[in-house]
Amino acid sequence: MTEKVWRIGVAGLGTVGAGLIKFIQARPDFVPATGVRVEIAGVSARSRSRKRDIDISTYTWFDDPVALAQSPDIDLLVELVGGSDGPAKAAVEAALKAGKPVVTANKALIAEHGLELAKLAEEKGVPLLFEAAVMGGAPAVKFVREAMLGDDLQAISGILNGTCNYILSTMEQTGASFADVLAEAQRLGYAEADPTADVGGFDTAHKITILAALAFGGAPNYAAAEISGIDTVELIDIRMAHDLGYRIKLIASAERGEGGASVRVAPQLVPLTHPLAQAMGSLNALFIEGACVGRLFLQGPGAGEGPTAAAVSADIADVIAGAVRPVFQGPAAGLAPLPAARDAGWHGKAYIRLLVRDRPGVIAAVSEALAKAEVSIDSILQRPVDDTGQVPIVLTTQPASEAAVKDALSHIADLDAAVEPPRMFRIAHV
Ligand SMILES: NC(=O)c1ccc[n+]([C@@H]2O[C@H](COP(=O)([O-])OP(=O)(O)OC[C@H]3O[C@@H](n4cnc5c(N)ncnc54)[C@H](OP(=O)(O)O)[C@@H]3O)[C@@H](O)[C@H]2O)c1
Repeated sequence: MTEKVWRIGVAGLGTVGAGLIKFIQARPDFVPATGVRVEIAGVSARSRSRKRDIDISTYTWFDDPVALAQSPDIDLLVELVGGSDGPAKAAVEAALKAGKPVVTANKALIAEHGLELAKLAEEKGVPLLFEAAVMGGAPAVKFVREAMLGDDLQAISGILNGTCNYILSTMEQTGASFADVLAEAQRLGYAEADPTADVGGFDTAHKITILAALAFGGAPNYAAAEISGIDTVELIDIRMAHDLGYRIKLIASAERGEGGASVRVAPQLVPLTHPLAQAMGSLNALFIEGACVGRLFLQGPGAGEGPTAAAVSADIADVIAGAVRPVFQGPAAGLAPLPAARDAGWHGKAYIRLLVRDRPGVIAAVSEALAKAEVSIDSILQRPVDDTGQVPIVLTTQPASEAAVKDALSHIADLDAAVEPPRMFRIAHV
């Protein structure tokens, strides 16, 4: 077979870009049975002089990723800069406008601008692929987009952010506070200097927004996601949850509902024996529920140079093999952002933690506050009173509506004995 060459432009030479370059340098003929050789023809990053552990001396350097995307010497752009806007978006648009396929690992870009980019890609008849954007090395996008096409997806839930999972796991294992574990993770390079995207739940929301669009047939609708992060989780919650038989995880979920889907990110209690509770450290894990196939489970490294570069390479192979499909699950010209379900409130069990002054009758007052909101108690756990005279009480509820639980929380907050507003996490229905 005559050897054909695909010339790749790599914008972004950080963790993932370096991993991709190492992989292609080692295996330029990785695309099976096509006789194609993949060649890196141009690269772009912020600083040309930065010391890197990859040899890029033979590639054409571009200060501007847009110029790389437009270069006639590039057949395919790989965007690994990151960020929903700015140079990443400009470069992807420029490549698509020039009729070039794009592979990206950028979840923020796809979750926030997926529909307009898909329209552009489909107008030009070129692929836009983003396997590495969700769960890094574990093929979550292909799983939902391709493997489940013959089923009717009902729900997806999982752990999609390795940094948060690492922080929660380390808090449990070491007994250190959220702030201390975060600081250590930053020192070790596991967490960004600005950790907001991870610990605030926004990165997870980008990923579940993408999966929800693929699962339920719309375009990504990031604005409709309900997001809360792990910065509200204290060590006492991790310990109390453990005593009750649960582990706290940052859970991303997407469920079919009336007129659309409910897409949420929040710390939730997961039973200790559940596979999601057993995904520790920086692992990612995902349950997918189909009407026909039942429940499927995928677990793997959600980040890192090698795993993420492997996912990017698989997309490059798909482009070269000529796989043709819409960017989401239908031609972009006819897609609208996946609407939020009308019956959006959740229904389930909740964990509530209170700090109260130790007084006779306080438990009765708490029970009364819950009864007023028609929420029944499932279990209650009280720690010994310390010398401040304050006592933490944790209770779990029977299944109740979100509105009823919020009502109960407001009654509890109004109690004379309450020292601070109560803390609430859902108990995952997984
Ligand atoms: N890291 C992971 O494990 C992982 C996993 C899944 C998905 N992703 C996604 O993959 C993408 C890349 O992540 P990463 O971790 O590799 O990021 P990173 O290590 O921060 O690297 C970003 C790269 O982009 C370059 N860059 C930044 N601003 C630029 C600009 N204005 N113009 C040109 N280049 C610019 C940087 O240049 P300099 O090198 O000169 O600073 C750097 O090479 C992101 O979308 C991320 O969300 C990452």
